[in-house]
Amino acid sequence: MSLRFRHAVVVGASSGIGASIARMLAADGCAVALLGRREAELQRVVASLPAGARAIPVVHDVTDQTGVPLLFERLVADLGGLDLLVYAAGDMHVPEEGEYDFARDRRQIEVNVLGAMAWTGAAAAHFEARRSGTIVGVSSIAGVRGRRTMPAYTTSKAALSAWLEALRNRVSRHGVNVVTVKPGFVDTAMTTHLTKKPMMISADRAASLILATARRGGSPSAYIPAQWGLVAFVVRHLPSWLFRRLDL
Ligand SMILES: NC(=O)c1ccc[n+]([C@@H]2O[C@H](COP(=O)([O-])OP(=O)(O)OC[C@H]3O[C@@H](n4cnc5c(N)ncnc54)[C@H](OP(=O)(O)O)[C@@H]3O)[C@@H](O)[C@H]2O)c1
Repeated sequence: MSLRFRHAVVVGASSGIGASIARMLAADGCAVALLGRREAELQRVVASLPAGARAIPVVHDVTDQTGVPLLFERLVADLGGLDLLVYAAGDMHVPEEGEYDFARDRRQIEVNVLGAMAWTGAAAAHFEARRSGTIVGVSSIAGVRGRRTMPAYTTSKAALSAWLEALRNRVSRHGVNVVTVKPGFVDTAMTTHLTKKPMMISADRAASLILATARRGGSPSAYIPAQWGLVAFVVRHLPSWLFRRLDL
């Protein structure tokens, strides 16, 4: 099976992985709504789409979760339907040694978890009623363990992966494809300040692997690229006393 997407919403499409996914969908003839806070970046992505592409840039802050149901319905109407929702919005902060900043931690939960729950929940209700549709959530290898270097981010991605698994268990029986993708390091604005970036891939490569995974159907959960699955297995099984000594 290879799904062909005709109408898509990409949340977090103003840069990085989400922008690459939106570009690839548009190049395949899919009408796309691109969401993010930075209007100029959204316009830049739209301007880079192939001539004739149907694209709707939408300025939206995912921390405004109460506005999601109305906006979701409006986008479905404007696009003329919906068969794919990608949640790629994300926020990551690496605190300094000794830094405990609840506001900064909270923002990562707001963007990476609550925003995702609002958007994918709206999509799940819509797709369940129609007995079809695909939801893609961009989680991360970082969610495998609670890491000392990025506590709130790893917590948020563990929560996001659990939420997507629960959603899959709820709606896959109604014909809805729920796809969890867990990339390793991807060359985007989010990773520019990181010093160690093993096995890093481009945003386009990540987007292409993510879309290929989504098109296969079957509600998979996949590491991007697949080699990170082995890393995750090893990391998950490291004893806690050893894991806490590592600079991860
Ligand atoms: N890069 C990596 O190595 C890596 C690895 C694993 C997973 N991921 C995940 O991949 C996803 C995409 O990240 P990226 O690497 O492509 O980084 P990025 O270029 O920084 O993209 C982040 C996207 O999230 C959007 N966003 C952030 N806060 C938002 C908010 N409050 N409201 C609406 N949109 C918001 C940004 O748009 P605005 O700023 O315009 O709002 C932007 O479009 C994230 O979920 C990230 O956690 C990345």
